[in-house]
Amino acid sequence: MADIRSIVILTGAGISAESGIDTFRDAGGLWEKHRIEDVATPEAFARNPALVQGFYDARRAALDSVEPNAAHKALARLEREWPDDEAHSLLIVTQNVDDLHERGGLQNVLHMHGELRSALCGACGVRTRWEGALSDAPPCTSCGAPALRPDVVWFGEMPYQMPRIYEALARADLFVSIGTSGAVYPAAGFVQEAAAYGARTLELNLERSEGSHWFDESRQGRAGALVPEWVEEVLGG
Ligand code: NAD
Ligand code: APR
Repeated sequence: MADIRSIVILTGAGISAESGIDTFRDAGGLWEKHRIEDVATPEAFARNPALVQGFYDARRAALDSVEPNAAHKALARLEREWPDDEAHSLLIVTQNVDDLHERGGLQNVLHMHGELRSALCGACGVRTRWEGALSDAPPCTSCGAPALRPDVVWFGEMPYQMPRIYEALARADLFVSIGTSGAVYPAAGFVQEAAAYGARTLELNLERSEGSHWFDESRQGRAGALVPEWVEEVLGG
């Protein structure tokens, strides 16, 4: 791994599964219990804001009873021990809206689909940290609009910081995908983007995903086992 200097890592719901947070498309996943059209689109929020706020309030409240797992902690170790110089870089992007990466010790993580622990003003786009129920949230502190919405990127919306992600993918020596089904774009296309610029690509997932065939290497297993093992490998431990 000596020739690896810049790494981009993408995580999905699978990295939080062993902490007890439902994934979306596994058996019993969120999209079996809720219709995307009812809780994860801008139209759903316009039609019934209270229902959508309630869905995300429940997911936020559930965070208080879960803990980061060995996979989250292993990525924090990688961040601590990865060389901090001009020649090296590490970008960790998550599709997850939970805070387990941060609670597992990771200092820098890019939430491309937003975060449960913040609220978004649909009128002016200002994001604010928000811990309570969204229905109790005050009007927007920036423009005064009444109803703050979940700071979560819904189907049909653009994820956060895409230019920064694509710039990192273009420079990556290695792209690693952890715990994602490869079902949702643009995240599902990152492996092809990185490979087109010459990066090596590795998938760590419970089972083969919709995108496994795009990867140079695909390892199947629990993130709680695969991620610490891979971090040890890449740090040359
Ligand atoms: P997409 O085409 O990226 O996603 C395709 C997958 O999403 C499908 O395979 C299906 O699994 C699911 N999906 C999308 N719409 C659905 C629907 N109406 N009913 C059932 N399943 C549906 O979806 P998109 O609309 O192009 O997404 C655009 C953006 O929204 C993307 O940038 C994505 O990152 C973001 N997004 C965010 C969330 C979230 O809850 N945070 C959910 C999905 C997508
Ligand atoms: N270890 C590793 N991988 C796991 C584990 C585990 N313990 N448990 C499940 N997985 C894998 C599953 O095999 C699956 O491929 O995690 C993946 C979860 O896939 P999804 O449920 O589709 O979640 P994700 O890929 O993050 O969804 C992408 O879709 O609905 C939107 O915005 C939502 O961010 C989400 C996006």
